[in-house]
Amino acid sequence: MQTELSRRLGVEHAIFGFTPFPAVAAAITRAGGFGVLGAVRYTAPDDLARDLDWMQEHTDGLPYGLDVVMPARKVEGVTEDDVEAMIPEGHRQFVRETLAKHGVPELAEGEASGWRITGWMEQVARDQLDVAFTYPIKLLANALGSPPADVVDRAHANGVLVAALAGSARHARHHAEAGIDIVVAQGYEAGGHTGEIASMVLVPEVVDAVGPLPVLAAGGIGSGAQVAAGLALGAQGVWLGSLWLTTTEADLHSRALTRKLLAAGSGDTVRSRALTGKPARQLRTEWTDAWDDPSGPGTLPMPLQGLLVAEALSRIQKYEVAPLLGTPVGQIVGRMNSERSVQEVVDDLTRGFEQAVDRISRIAGRSGS
Ligand SMILES: Cc1cc2nc3c(=O)[nH]c(=O)nc-3n(C[C@H](O)[C@H](O)[C@H](O)COP(=O)(O)O)c2cc1C
Repeated sequence: MQTELSRRLGVEHAIFGFTPFPAVAAAITRAGGFGVLGAVRYTAPDDLARDLDWMQEHTDGLPYGLDVVMPARKVEGVTEDDVEAMIPEGHRQFVRETLAKHGVPELAEGEASGWRITGWMEQVARDQLDVAFTYPIKLLANALGSPPADVVDRAHANGVLVAALAGSARHARHHAEAGIDIVVAQGYEAGGHTGEIASMVLVPEVVDAVGPLPVLAAGGIGSGAQVAAGLALGAQGVWLGSLWLTTTEADLHSRALTRKLLAAGSGDTVRSRALTGKPARQLRTEWTDAWDDPSGPGTLPMPLQGLLVAEALSRIQKYEVAPLLGTPVGQIVGRMNSERSVQEVVDDLTRGFEQAVDRISRIAGRSGS
């Protein structure tokens, strides 16, 4: 599965895999795809360095990338404590009541509450970049908006290609003007932060808007036929996030969550602001229902919402409170029905791609069979 872009990056298959787990990212790369490690959960540069060391040792010299979150709008000089102070008491009360309703235990004294907003702050992302550029990463991706010009220049000076996610042709044009190299056109079906345009409509719009800049199709891809569809729409590769969550290498820290993902259908996700304050597709749970209920206080803007719910989510995850347990995941969750290794997933995608291409070739009357 070669395209101009996959050849440029030196990978066997034009399959890009976003994942927060180093073991999954390394396995995608070893399977002939391009693994991209999500950096948002690393608040300490040393932790990122430790995992990039591990990636180096487990990728056999093959290429991989890093995804950072640099919000387009800068917030200068604001600390996490400043943000904490902006959270209304009524919202804190709502969190306490919702947890109490489900009997969610407290964390032990001194136990870290897990996710913080610091990974969303520009300075943290910049510290991550200082670490990342000491490793031979081949791609730097940015989630929320175009990366700042100096970051693009620094990446290019280090021989690193820059990608950015786009949910509309307008976003994609903005990225192109910012000098990035690859646009990831991510549709409404996708897990995580998404726009409102479905991949089937979005991908060709973005291809037309930024061509000849390479575009990756993202959102709702979980089979070889869907890979073929992405390429047929003009993409130079595909970018998948959800499908890796139920691989054997993924470390979700919760068997109950894995079971929920395996059982979920394509209609069991919701695009909700409950997680971060911006619309993000995730498993629909009693937690997202509570936040989306008009009788509740409603969500707060990013980054307040993320900070407000961080400790609650750690508790829900630690105690595996099934009705509230969720994760970002896309509509493709309906196809994630068994645990497979990353290698098996990649094999299935490439085999399915070839079958889809053969089938279309036969329909088009281009093959002897
Ligand atoms: C659990 C999860 C976390 C995600 N976190 C990020 C992130 O931190 N940065 C980012 O650029 N994209 C993130 N995404 C979006 C993916 O990069 C990707 O665009 C998306 O998953 C593609 O659609 P799919 O879920 O249908 O495969 C996340 C997706 C999932 C499922």
